[in-house]
Amino acid sequence: MAAESYTTHECDVLVVGAGGAGMRAAIAAAQAGCSTIVVTKSLLGKAHTVMAEGGIAAGLGNVDAQDSWEVHFADTMLGGQLLNNWRMVELYAHEVVDRVYELERWGGLFDRTDDGRIMQRAFGAHSWRRLAHVGDRTGLELIRTCQDRLVHTARTECYMEYTLTRLLKDGDRVVGAMGYNRNDGRFVVIKAGAVVLGSGGWGRMYRYTSNSWEGTGDGAAMAYDAGAELLDMEFVQFHPTGMVWPPGARGILVTEAVRGEGGLLYNSEHKRFMLEYDPVKKELSSRDVVARSIYKEVKAGRGSPHGGALLDITHRGADYIKKKLPSMYEQFHALASVDITREAMEVGPTIHYTMGGVRVDAETAATTVPGLYAAGEVAGGLHGANRLGGNSLGDILVFGRRAGVAAAEFARTAGTRRPVIEHEVEEEQRALLAPLQSGNGNAPGENPYHLHEALQAAMQDDAGIGRSEESLHRALAAILELRERSRSMRVSGGRVLNPGWHTCRDVTFMLTVSEAIVRSAIQRCESRGSQWRFDHLEQDEEQGKVNYVARRDGDTMTVGPVPLAPLPAHLVSLLTRSRFYDPAKLPKGHLRPEAMPAAAKEST
Ligand code: FUM
Repeated sequence: MAAESYTTHECDVLVVGAGGAGMRAAIAAAQAGCSTIVVTKSLLGKAHTVMAEGGIAAGLGNVDAQDSWEVHFADTMLGGQLLNNWRMVELYAHEVVDRVYELERWGGLFDRTDDGRIMQRAFGAHSWRRLAHVGDRTGLELIRTCQDRLVHTARTECYMEYTLTRLLKDGDRVVGAMGYNRNDGRFVVIKAGAVVLGSGGWGRMYRYTSNSWEGTGDGAAMAYDAGAELLDMEFVQFHPTGMVWPPGARGILVTEAVRGEGGLLYNSEHKRFMLEYDPVKKELSSRDVVARSIYKEVKAGRGSPHGGALLDITHRGADYIKKKLPSMYEQFHALASVDITREAMEVGPTIHYTMGGVRVDAETAATTVPGLYAAGEVAGGLHGANRLGGNSLGDILVFGRRAGVAAAEFARTAGTRRPVIEHEVEEEQRALLAPLQSGNGNAPGENPYHLHEALQAAMQDDAGIGRSEESLHRALAAILELRERSRSMRVSGGRVLNPGWHTCRDVTFMLTVSEAIVRSAIQRCESRGSQWRFDHLEQDEEQGKVNYVARRDGDTMTVGPVPLAPLPAHLVSLLTRSRFYDPAKLPKGHLRPEAMPAAAKEST
């Protein structure tokens, strides 16, 4: 069969995804002189970026003068339980300061200190008040500012409501991507000198998530299919505070800014349980710890009426709450008929973010596949075993820019556009169209929505906040069975505005990513950061020296360890700058407490 006709576009740099990382990459590539196409599944301005509500973590030192990039580096490494790519963290902590001021110059709005500087607020496991913010709508402001900048940058084009499904290759090199227009179902091929993935994370294979419909892991799955490696996939972040009630709102984010502004967590016995779980950081402990604490309280029968905890900020007063947390005030009012200036919120863990992702080079965001770059949530490495809140908005600005610059350089020097290989296009078209072919009359085929639901049940129940070898093997068996069944997915209707058809590909992508999560979680026989193994409750020295990487080997996924690069001495000494540095509680792995210098005083 010859390929069905398709529309072709060409550019130097193709950016997949139009959240903060994608837009920042596109701006950088276009400013470097490259023609740049941004493709989004959704609409420009609508991305999971807006769900980072509480702020951008940057060591500006505007509110607490003791803060600096060095302390930010230390907090991020300790928060990630030392599994982070230290070079990414070093670059990040340095450069995020410039990126925040750049955003301000581009017109981004921020709350202000009395003397007019960018205001910063407290967030979990950050030593100092560090999050530059505007109320509880910081992600939205970042998106608006980058969007404005993007549409005013020459050499950029944006295609909305396109799903890209396959990276096209010539030999080892990525030379573009193909997919379809979600409105009319027509195929599109985009030839490019280099491709940047800024396509975000994956929460939709779980039942309760802050992610909207876009979070199906398309970028990671496409990169894996093209031969890229997926790193640290076992680390999936449960944000401690999602809404738990009413049922239709379950999972929607309740920003950490509520706790940053003084919100307190109580159980049904009106006890501030975080005083026991983390007497030092309390409600502002790291997300993995707070999420697990709520889970334990509920399991112990001390949960709130709808199975969560009570988050109370009423003591801050109505004016303050409405000023600093306007979205939370409106959200609870509209969705739960709760006035958060007078009543506590009911909250519980919700899947929010994925620390793992495509393995990249720290300096350039290059993947292991020539011509392919990845930045933001789709990339792994920066956050290690647990991300600190506020580090995602900084991540997308710092590494979005780096990816755009490096992809532009590649496109200009090595990335002469090559012809698309027709049989690759045909093969992909056939796979995409299969669910629309009617069966033989006897076999109605599998319903993609049912498969999605079954996947969510397997992931939520068996690969969720707590896991064990047994539960993970159950999840893996379910995924492999669903993979088989997915080969005969069928939907009615045609290609025009057909959400059932779109779901078929979403399910395919989510199965790949879920398999990587579960296989990696099986390998990591320890509890560390967001990976909580009921059958291995402690950290393991040897596993603290490796990341796990998933690779494609024909049709089989393999997962194996890769050693962490040793932390250089000048960075080892920085770890003591964190207010939360405790030699007795150093994450197990390649750093020995006796190798650490004495802790610095808080005032340094
Ligand atoms: O809670 C929040 O506002 C989320 C922030 C983040 O994930 O960085």
